[in-house]
Amino acid sequence: MAKIKAIRGMNDILPDATPVWQYLENTVQQLLSGYGYSEVRMPIVEQTDLFKRSIGEVTDIVEKEMYTFEDRNGESLTLRPEGTASCVRAAEEHGLLFNQTQRFWYQGPMFRYEKPQKGRYRQFHQIGVETFGMASADVDAELILLSARLWQRLGIRDAVTLQLNSLGSNEARAEYRQALVDYLTLHKDQLDEDSLRRLDSNPLRILDSKDPQTQTVLESAPLLSDYLDQESAEHFAELRRILDDAGVKYELNPRLVRGLDYYCKTVFEWVTDKLGAQGTVCAGGRYDGLVKQLGGRPTPAVGFAMGVERLVLLLETLEAIPADLRQPFDIYLAAEHKGIQHRLMLLAEQLRDQLPGLRVRVHCAGLKNIASKARQTGAPLVLLMKTDEAGELVGTLWHNDQPQFDLGEAQLVSAIESVWTR
Ligand code: HAM
Repeated sequence: MAKIKAIRGMNDILPDATPVWQYLENTVQQLLSGYGYSEVRMPIVEQTDLFKRSIGEVTDIVEKEMYTFEDRNGESLTLRPEGTASCVRAAEEHGLLFNQTQRFWYQGPMFRYEKPQKGRYRQFHQIGVETFGMASADVDAELILLSARLWQRLGIRDAVTLQLNSLGSNEARAEYRQALVDYLTLHKDQLDEDSLRRLDSNPLRILDSKDPQTQTVLESAPLLSDYLDQESAEHFAELRRILDDAGVKYELNPRLVRGLDYYCKTVFEWVTDKLGAQGTVCAGGRYDGLVKQLGGRPTPAVGFAMGVERLVLLLETLEAIPADLRQPFDIYLAAEHKGIQHRLMLLAEQLRDQLPGLRVRVHCAGLKNIASKARQTGAPLVLLMKTDEAGELVGTLWHNDQPQFDLGEAQLVSAIESVWTR
């Protein structure tokens, strides 16, 4: 019978890879708690309308990429393609937004039916950050400073650059949209098929087109920055001032519009040229209109999400992974002969009691060639136990090919402590 395989674009993350994921997740969590952010956990499935109403009906995500299905009640549900909409829904539903400021983060799988390739999957993982109730540019800056600090901690700061733009208010963007449509309509015959289609539905997305001929047309297109309303322009100037003062470099990219409809004012992306086509490792922006759009009271908000797979790939590509990360235990404990396995299990428990943090793996299989098998595990420490003539347990502790022989049970803890690097 044919074996059942995983679904295309949905990956198993195997023991060889999970330490890097954990390292990344732990580093992010530590960093976020240093900025006073709290974790929220949302369901993976939501009502389809939540995403339609927030991400936008005529976006790639909603038009082509959602995993939507009917449940047994005939209700249309969708596997979340992103976390912002769910986070807003959850915060609003539980009364966490009115008259309050909030700083949240979340992590977990997201689902988009995209064409899988390196760095682009159908089930992928994000760590997202969302803030609510704060309208000023200092929060936008905080998110960028926080992410810059993360790259620094991960040792990938030099591999990523920050692209920055302001989309302005909804009114300013509508005015710009008209100017862009007028201009592009004059050059309709030079646009690629996708862009032509977007001319009516979502013209700003044409700015993202990778088609060379469309790009040539875009070179002389009107610029969003020329249409910014005063409030957005001041907000953007304040953000840039804080970034400049903090020494965070950025590139102004007037064509950065993002693929989700809820943004206004600040948008940004951290990109790398080390991963090929899928180079955006973290992206976000301000979405002051979304809470109201989803039925809440007007609440300013700004956030971002990073792609965990892409960051893991980047850490691996740059070899920015701490040594020994993949070694899942500190000490390998094995019996040299039969008949003492039950005592070994208790000894392992005692060692865990007395040396908290010591990661002990006990050998629970055949004992043939046990000494070399134990060394082949790559464990920094190997402890081989046997009984002496009096029936007492005695051990040999190996560290860097240096043995300490005949250690009685009472001596084991101090012997291990003398060579264990935590
Ligand atoms: P997004 O740009 O759609 O924004 O996704 C954020 C990040 O998720 C991307 O920059 C990328 O690193 C990763 N990503 C997206 N799609 C895939 C995929 N198919 N495979 C692998 N990684 C992927 C959002 O989702 C917004 N919710 C971000 C946000 C939060 N804006 C405000 N708050």
